[in-house]
Amino acid sequence: MPDVRCICAIGQTGQLGLNGELPWEGNPGKDYREDVERFFELTKGHVLIAGPKTIGAVPDAMHAQMTLRIIQSKDNPENVLSQYAGRVVFIGGGPEVWDVYAKYIRHWDITRLPYDGDADRWFNPEWLVAAKDS
Ligand SMILES: NC(=O)c1ccc[n+]([C@@H]2O[C@H](COP(=O)([O-])OP(=O)(O)OC[C@H]3O[C@@H](n4cnc5c(N)ncnc54)[C@H](OP(=O)(O)O)[C@@H]3O)[C@@H](O)[C@H]2O)c1
Repeated sequence: MPDVRCICAIGQTGQLGLNGELPWEGNPGKDYREDVERFFELTKGHVLIAGPKTIGAVPDAMHAQMTLRIIQSKDNPENVLSQYAGRVVFIGGGPEVWDVYAKYIRHWDITRLPYDGDADRWFNPEWLVAAKDS
């Protein structure tokens, strides 16, 4: 199995996404810019596994710098992960993906941003304690 990790960013009450983008997309504030930069610094050279919308949001300039893998609901998670043995794999979301893959994540890196507005995708704290046999 690979070293399975997650880096994500949430708003003050767990906001994750809005209208297919980050809820704070386009906010020029330092916290938001630094968070995106840090995401790409830490994932560089590694594998990012995520749903189609999340992978679609990765800027073209980053494609050569990491291994991107779009997953579908029909994929078997253990088969997917076993293809990356020895690598560091980040599970990138969205929520339906974390519902299934959270139990394999051994390291969570969650930045809580000052954003306090709307969202249509939310962080679920139960992911942090999802049991391997659940
Ligand atoms: N704040 C953050 O750190 C962060 C991180 C990631 C995403 N987001 C936000 O979240 C939103 C995008 O997420 P999203 O959920 O809407 O779209 P998504 O990234 O495309 O993920 C959902 C899709 O993943 C596929 N999938 C793959 N494996 C699955 C599984 N085992 N079970 C269920 N579905 C699975 C499904 O497609 P099929 O049914 O076609 O297979 C599903 O429609 C955006 O707003 C984005 O900005 C935020």
